This record gives sequence, C-alpha cells and structure tokens, in this order.
Amino acid sequence: CSIRHYKFNVVLRNTTRLCSSKPIVTVNGRFPGPTIYAREDDNVLVKVVNHVKYNVSIHWHGIRQLRTGWADGPAYITQCPIQPGQSYVYNFTITGQRGTLLWHAHILWLRATVHGAIVILPKLGVPYPFPKPHKEEVVILGEWWKSDVETVINQAVKSGLAPNISDAHTINGHPGPVSSCLSQGGFNLPVEPGKTYMLRIINAALNEELFFKIAGHKLTVVEVDATYVKPFKTDTILVAPGQTTNVLITADLGTGKYLVAASPFMDAPIAVDNMTATATLHYSGTVSTTSTTLTTPPPKNATPVATKFMDSLRSLNSKKYPAKVPLTIGHSLLFTISLGVNPCRTCVNGSRVVAGLNNVTFVMPTTALLQAHFSKISGVFTDDFPGNPLMPYNYTGTQPTNFQTMKGTRLYRLAYNSTVQLILQDTGMITPENHPIHLHGFNFFAVGRGLGNFNPKKDPKNFNLVDPVERNTIGVPSAGWVAIRFRADNPGVWFMHCHLEVHTTWGLKMAFVVDNGKGPNESLLPPPSDLPKC
Ligand code: C2O
Repeated sequence: CSIRHYKFNVVLRNTTRLCSSKPIVTVNGRFPGPTIYAREDDNVLVKVVNHVKYNVSIHWHGIRQLRTGWADGPAYITQCPIQPGQSYVYNFTITGQRGTLLWHAHILWLRATVHGAIVILPKLGVPYPFPKPHKEEVVILGEWWKSDVETVINQAVKSGLAPNISDAHTINGHPGPVSSCLSQGGFNLPVEPGKTYMLRIINAALNEELFFKIAGHKLTVVEVDATYVKPFKTDTILVAPGQTTNVLITADLGTGKYLVAASPFMDAPIAVDNMTATATLHYSGTVSTTSTTLTTPPPKNATPVATKFMDSLRSLNSKKYPAKVPLTIGHSLLFTISLGVNPCRTCVNGSRVVAGLNNVTFVMPTTALLQAHFSKISGVFTDDFPGNPLMPYNYTGTQPTNFQTMKGTRLYRLAYNSTVQLILQDTGMITPENHPIHLHGFNFFAVGRGLGNFNPKKDPKNFNLVDPVERNTIGVPSAGWVAIRFRADNPGVWFMHCHLEVHTTWGLKMAFVVDNGKGPNESLLPPPSDLPKC
C-alpha cells in the first residue's frame, strides 16, 4: 500500500450556469471538485486550506475511519471547523473498502458546490468480480441554485419554513439545455461501439433522490456505496443523496447519440420539484448534427420503479466478499422519523418546521462532540437518546395532534463491538416522506423493509440475514420502515442523519458514541496536533 497526498484549496470561483453567473465555494476552483484516487489499504492525506470567509470542514462520506474519527469531518461532531485562513490535514487509511464514494463539505449548505468523487481501486493485482470495463467514468449528480445557497438556507432558517428548491439538477456540473437557458451544453459521454464502460454514479445533490437512465441502454448494477452487489440489469437506477452506484453499460447500438437523464424521485404529496438534468452518450464517429434518441424519465412519484430497484439489491456474498451480517442483537432500537412545528421567537411566523428522531430535535453543540468524549468534557452532550419511542403511537395512521419535539444534544451509547439492530420508522407527522438516512463510521446491512408500522412479532421472520445489501445510506420508504444491522466495531462519535440537507437543518440527526474496547487496537487514536479549535 502507498501514501496518497492531496491538497484542497477552498476558494471562490465565479461560475456560470443557467445563463447567469455567481461566485461559488469550490475546491481548487473546480465544480464538481477533484477526484481522490486511492487503492484499498492506502493511507490518504488531504491538506485542506481554507481561503474563503466561511468555516469549512470536509467529510469523506462512506470511508469507515476505523479509529480515526478525527478525520471524519462533520463540523461540531468530530471536529471544530477549519476557520478562514486555517488548514487541517485529514489523515486516514482505507481499510477493507473498494469502490466509489464521495467527499463533501459538512457544514452549513456548502456541500452544494463543495463535493467530488472518491475512487478506491482494489488492491494491486486483485481484479473486479466482474469483467474489466474498457473505461471508467465518474458521473456526479447535483443541483444548482441561481442565488447564493447560503442565503437560501439563511432565509429559510429565519422564516421557519422550507427553503427554495434548486433551479436545476446537474450531471457532472451541467444541467443540459433547459427552457430558461437553451444555449448551455450538457455533459458529453463519448463511447466506442462494442465496448463496455463502468459509470461511477454519485448523488451529491442536497435535497433530491434521483432516478438515472440512458436512452436505449441497459445498466448492469455491480456495486453500491463501495460494496459489491450481485449484478442485475435495469433501465433505471435510483440514487439518494450520499449514495453511489456503479453500473456497467455496453455500447451495443453501434452509432448515434442517446439522452442521459437524471430526474427527481419524490413521493411526498407536497413535492414540487420536477426538473430533469440531461447529458449525452455519444458514439464515436457519430456526426454532431445527428438527433439525440430521447428517453422519458420515470415520473417523480414512481414509487414502484424505486421499490423494484431497491428490492433487486443484494450483497455479492461470495467466498471472497462474504456478507458478515450480525446474527445476534445486542441493542434493539427503533427510531421514528417525524417532522413537526415548534415555537420560534426569532421566526417570522412565530413557529418553525422541525424534524426529529424519536421526537428529539438534535441541537448542534458549539464544540466538537468527539473532543468532548475523548477529553471527558462534561456538559457538551448527554447519552440519554431514547432507543425506542417514549410514547409509541400509530406511526403511519392517525397522528397525535402535538407536533412539538424535544430538543437536546442527546447521544446513544453503544458498547464496543456490540451488535445493533435499528428500525428506522417513517411517520405521517405533517407528511410521510422518503428519507435517505446516512450513518457515519459504519456500513450496515439492510435486512428488512416494509410499508406501514414495523411489526416486531411478524416482520423479523422475513428478514434477509443471508445476502442483504450493505451500504452507508438507505432510503426509508414513505410511511414505511427499514431494518438495519451493524457491529459497533469503531470507537468514537458517529453522526447519523437524513442526507436531505433541508431535513438535517431541521434537526433530523443524532449521534452514537461507541466506547473503546479492551484490546490494543480497539481504541480511538489520539487527536492529530493540527485538529482545528472552536
Ligand atoms: Cu454525506 Cu454526514 O454526510
């Protein structure tokens, strides 16, 4: 294994999209940002230098960070932010992972423009468990606001209401022609007839789960969230914010141009966003005047398409890549996901929309939780997060009329190496909605999924404990539930939150604190000397 050095200069860059320009926060002046390339077992060192007026931190989404929580990145959870003019070296080793992940800013809404791919190749000499593609391409999905994104969120926080939706979705930074700006080009994917390509598709959008499809071509899914899956063919894939999906595509049509489309999946009844980002798959030798073969993306409420895709995902579970599903349960947890309305003195309407897990709206601390945990600083957090709803109700049926949530910086404590089963239960509070929940520090197995209320007697009988998909971000179905299992083998403080940034802002987040183990390799390492201070 080797050491990979990267330098991330966080700088402003004037950028034009949708026929208008604005300065955006970028890494090295690029949008999307640079790709990190590494191999499994490599040590990665990224020096982040903050040249902008905002506080910054970078998260390596999906990297397990075994014992190196200090390099995980979420501001005020594992580190204080990097202040203007300061720098910090993220130092971590990629252990037992290969595939596609993403990095992104983890403070405010900066990740709208501060994100990029992480490509982890297998160890030298180790092949993919599928035929080697002719070429690989990173495809990053995102979204674009014409106005300044920090202004958008600040206005929303002040009003207590939802922020404005974005003005476009993007594929590798470009929306493609839209009615408001027909002249802009889109991303172009050149292919040679007969060859097979691997697309490393990343959803870096703030608030949108996205369908992705290519006219006339099937996609063979081979990996999600940097874990191999049993390959299967599909027309359409679904990628939630924070998720990644590798697909193989064979350029078997010989010639022509084909539309690539990314469009939102939103099954909430109040969903408003219906924009499609487009790109072009272009066979070499095709003249540019050739018209593009079109495709119709699924409608935004195409729940059956989403369900079929999610149900098709299975861990590869081969001899070489076994699915190590925990078969016993140490901690048995159920977290409800709900929206609510709390009083707010500073808000225009005197109230604000909030969100909670088990009716707790997470309050961000002003110093890093990991530091408080490591240095035993009291008064920063409590470890009394409720493992189960305090007052169970019919989660997906008639709702209680009290929409208020409790507030607190409450963590849930896990014993080192204990096994966890967590049911994530969506509720009908205000509105049921699909929530992509992301857990830092671990991969988990999605062993079960259903609609309505989780039934603790019946549902576990149908759990897949053999080859469930392993990932770091999972869509909890609207008015339904998912069951995940993981082993708490990573000491530290680990954030868990909805990866729809608007919901995180509203408080749909919490953290686990995992104790040190007894063995020499079972403890959190001490903090690096350049760890930022608050
Ligand atoms: Cu990709 Cu806590 O985030």
